Amino acid sequence: MDMNNGSLGPQLTAAERDLLLEKAKAALANAYAPYSKFQVGAALLTEAGNVYTGCNVENASYGLTNCAERTAIFSAVNAEGSGMHIRAIAVWSNPEGPCSPCGACRQVMFEFGPKSIVLFQGINGIEEVRASDLLPHGFLFEASC
Ligand code: THU
Repeated sequence: MDMNNGSLGPQLTAAERDLLLEKAKAALANAYAPYSKFQVGAALLTEAGNVYTGCNVENASYGLTNCAERTAIFSAVNAEGSGMHIRAIAVWSNPEGPCSPCGACRQVMFEFGPKSIVLFQGINGIEEVRASDLLPHGFLFEASC
Protein backbone atom coordinates (compact mmCIF):
# COMPACT_ATOMS: atom_id res chain seq x y z
CA MET A 1 0.00 0.00 0.00
CA ASP A 2 1.27 3.50 -0.83
CA MET A 3 1.69 5.31 2.48
CA ASN A 4 2.73 8.57 0.84
CA ASN A 5 0.60 11.42 -0.29
CA GLY A 6 2.80 13.51 -2.53
CA SER A 7 3.89 16.80 -1.01
CA LEU A 8 1.80 16.23 2.10
CA GLY A 9 4.39 13.72 3.34
CA PRO A 10 3.96 10.27 4.83
CA GLN A 11 0.60 9.25 6.22
CA LEU A 12 0.09 7.39 9.47
CA THR A 13 -0.19 3.63 9.41
CA ALA A 14 -3.24 2.05 11.04
CA ALA A 15 -0.96 0.66 13.77
CA GLU A 16 0.49 4.12 14.52
CA ARG A 17 -2.99 5.62 14.63
CA ASP A 18 -4.23 2.91 17.03
CA LEU A 19 -1.17 3.26 19.24
CA LEU A 20 -1.52 7.04 19.54
CA LEU A 21 -5.23 6.87 20.33
CA GLU A 22 -4.62 4.15 22.92
CA LYS A 23 -1.83 6.16 24.57
CA ALA A 24 -3.91 9.35 24.56
CA LYS A 25 -6.73 7.46 26.32
CA ALA A 26 -4.29 6.10 28.91
CA ALA A 27 -2.72 9.54 29.49
CA LEU A 28 -5.97 11.15 30.57
CA ALA A 29 -5.90 9.10 33.77
CA ASN A 30 -3.24 11.53 35.07
CA ALA A 31 -5.25 14.67 34.30
CA TYR A 32 -5.53 17.30 37.01
CA ALA A 33 -9.01 18.63 36.26
CA PRO A 34 -10.78 19.36 39.58
CA TYR A 35 -12.59 22.41 38.14
CA SER A 36 -13.96 21.27 34.78
CA LYS A 37 -13.97 17.52 35.61
CA PHE A 38 -13.07 17.13 31.92
CA GLN A 39 -10.02 14.88 31.64
CA VAL A 40 -7.96 15.07 28.46
CA GLY A 41 -5.03 12.98 27.27
CA ALA A 42 -2.72 13.46 24.29
CA ALA A 43 -0.09 11.29 22.65
CA LEU A 44 2.44 12.64 20.22
CA LEU A 45 4.68 10.84 17.71
CA THR A 46 7.81 12.76 16.75
CA GLU A 47 9.64 12.63 13.43
CA ALA A 48 12.42 10.92 15.40
CA GLY A 49 9.99 8.08 16.15
CA ASN A 50 9.38 8.64 19.85
CA VAL A 51 6.02 8.90 21.62
CA TYR A 52 5.31 11.42 24.39
CA THR A 53 2.08 11.83 26.30
CA GLY A 54 0.40 14.64 28.17
CA CYS A 55 -2.69 15.45 30.21
CA ASN A 56 -4.49 18.68 31.06
CA VAL A 57 -3.32 20.44 34.21
CA GLU A 58 -5.80 22.97 35.57
CA ASN A 59 -5.28 25.79 38.04
CA ALA A 60 -7.46 27.66 40.51
CA SER A 61 -6.84 30.77 38.42
CA TYR A 62 -8.37 28.93 35.43
CA GLY A 63 -6.40 30.91 32.84
CA LEU A 64 -3.18 29.14 33.77
CA THR A 65 -4.60 25.78 32.74
CA ASN A 66 -2.42 23.78 30.36
CA CYS A 67 -4.13 21.55 27.83
CA ALA A 68 -3.11 17.94 27.29
CA GLU A 69 -1.76 18.68 23.80
CA ARG A 70 0.62 21.39 25.00
CA THR A 71 1.75 19.25 27.93
CA ALA A 72 2.71 16.50 25.46
CA ILE A 73 4.42 18.93 23.07
CA PHE A 74 6.44 20.60 25.83
CA SER A 75 7.49 17.17 27.16
CA ALA A 76 8.65 16.23 23.66
CA VAL A 77 10.72 19.41 23.33
CA ASN A 78 12.15 18.84 26.79
CA ALA A 79 13.20 15.30 25.80
CA GLU A 80 14.38 15.84 22.20
CA GLY A 81 15.43 19.47 22.20
CA SER A 82 14.66 22.37 19.91
CA GLY A 83 14.77 20.21 16.77
CA MET A 84 11.67 18.26 17.83
CA HIS A 85 9.15 17.92 15.02
CA ILE A 86 5.66 16.50 15.44
CA ARG A 87 4.62 13.79 13.01
CA ALA A 88 1.22 13.13 14.59
CA ILE A 89 -0.72 13.92 17.75
CA ALA A 90 -3.85 12.25 19.12
CA VAL A 91 -6.30 13.65 21.68
CA TRP A 92 -8.94 11.88 23.79
CA SER A 93 -11.27 12.97 26.58
CA ASN A 94 -13.30 11.67 29.49
CA PRO A 95 -16.27 12.10 29.30
CA GLU A 96 -15.75 10.67 25.86
CA GLY A 97 -17.05 12.78 23.00
CA PRO A 98 -16.02 15.54 20.62
CA CYS A 99 -12.78 17.16 21.75
CA SER A 100 -11.26 19.41 19.14
CA PRO A 101 -7.92 21.08 20.03
CA CYS A 102 -8.27 24.68 21.23
CA GLY A 103 -6.83 27.61 19.32
CA ALA A 104 -3.78 27.97 21.57
CA CYS A 105 -2.86 24.30 21.06
CA ARG A 106 -3.33 24.61 17.29
CA GLN A 107 -0.79 27.44 17.20
CA VAL A 108 1.69 25.41 19.28
CA MET A 109 1.17 22.35 17.02
CA PHE A 110 1.74 24.62 14.01
CA GLU A 111 5.09 25.73 15.45
CA PHE A 112 6.45 22.19 15.66
CA GLY A 113 4.71 20.53 12.73
CA PRO A 114 2.45 22.44 10.37
CA LYS A 115 2.02 19.29 8.30
CA SER A 116 1.57 17.01 11.32
CA ILE A 117 -1.53 14.84 11.53
CA VAL A 118 -3.97 15.62 14.35
CA LEU A 119 -6.35 12.87 15.49
CA PHE A 120 -9.33 13.77 17.65
CA GLN A 121 -12.92 12.87 18.19
CA GLY A 122 -15.23 15.04 16.11
CA ILE A 123 -19.01 15.16 16.05
CA ASN A 124 -19.16 12.28 13.56
CA GLY A 125 -16.28 10.13 14.80
CA ILE A 126 -12.52 10.33 14.67
CA GLU A 127 -11.10 13.16 12.57
CA GLU A 128 -7.65 13.09 11.01
CA VAL A 129 -6.59 16.59 9.94
CA ARG A 130 -3.31 18.39 9.19
CA ALA A 131 -2.33 21.04 11.78
CA SER A 132 -2.16 23.64 8.98
CA ASP A 133 -5.74 22.81 8.01
CA LEU A 134 -6.87 23.19 11.63
CA LEU A 135 -5.11 26.56 11.75
CA PRO A 136 -5.06 28.29 8.36
CA HIS A 137 -2.62 31.22 8.24
CA GLY A 138 -0.93 30.16 11.49
CA PHE A 139 1.62 32.60 12.81
CA LEU A 140 5.29 32.02 11.92
CA PHE A 141 7.87 34.45 13.29
CA GLU A 142 10.07 34.48 10.16
CA ALA A 143 7.10 35.22 7.92
CA SER A 144 6.26 38.34 9.89
CA CYS A 145 9.75 39.91 9.70
N1 THU B 1 -8.65 20.79 27.20
C1 THU B 1 -7.58 20.10 26.74
O1 THU B 1 -6.72 19.67 27.53
N2 THU B 1 -7.46 19.90 25.41
C2 THU B 1 -8.42 20.21 24.49
O2 THU B 1 -8.25 19.92 23.32
C3 THU B 1 -9.64 20.92 24.92
C4 THU B 1 -9.66 21.38 26.33
C5 THU B 1 -8.83 20.95 28.65
C6 THU B 1 -8.58 22.30 29.22
C7 THU B 1 -9.39 22.25 30.51
O3 THU B 1 -8.63 21.64 31.52
C8 THU B 1 -10.55 21.33 30.18
O4 THU B 1 -10.16 20.62 29.00
C9 THU B 1 -11.87 22.03 29.93
O5 THU B 1 -11.71 23.04 29.02
